[in-house]
Amino acid sequence: MKIAVISYSLTGNNDALAACIAKELSAEQIKISTRKSMNNGAIMLDMLFGRTPRSQPGPEIMDKFDLILFFGPIWMGQVASPLRAYLQYLKKSPKRYGFLSISGGADGDNPKLRGELLKRAGAAPVLLLDQHIADLLPTDQKPERKDTSAYTITPAEAERLTNKAVEVIRNTF
Ligand SMILES: Cc1cc2nc3c(=O)[nH]c(=O)nc-3n(C[C@H](O)[C@H](O)[C@H](O)COP(=O)(O)O)c2cc1C
Repeated sequence: MKIAVISYSLTGNNDALAACIAKELSAEQIKISTRKSMNNGAIMLDMLFGRTPRSQPGPEIMDKFDLILFFGPIWMGQVASPLRAYLQYLKKSPKRYGFLSISGGADGDNPKLRGELLKRAGAAPVLLLDQHIADLLPTDQKPERKDTSAYTITPAEAERLTNKAVEVIRNTF
């Protein structure tokens, strides 16, 4: 089975996690970048108006794989907008996919993810794993959004998150 790890990351966390997992699975990692740089204003507009930013490489890159594992941040409860074109492509060219994220988690789970993925890709993900930065921080005080959004995972944390994710992936396939 040929697996592609397709990652988008604004501040590095999801690319780092994707890189560790790709290595563990001996899968190819494809990093997505946007034509225009993303900032909080652009994120807000994408999320409010459902915009799909132009990203590269084109989604046809997925054609040669049997399984796609997407990695990316959660923004305002939704999958990061640069991944939208790839999810939408699966609607006309269906294949099995999973979505994994290291998101902030300051407000708890992101309950709308599964429904959004189903709507955009035309099929539910075979695997959905949303791990949280909030769970990595000290437990003596409740982390706020500003703490989780500014946090960069360490290599040791990336390894721990990878171990958990690889266990879930191996139990699924
Ligand atoms: C504008 C913005 C909105 C965010 N909204 C959420 C959210 O709704 N839920 C969540 O769990 N994390 C949220 N986060 C936190 C990111 O998902 C988290 O920082 C993630 O690790 C960033 O990934 P990256 O380093 O790969 O870009 C948000 C971050 C930003 C910048």
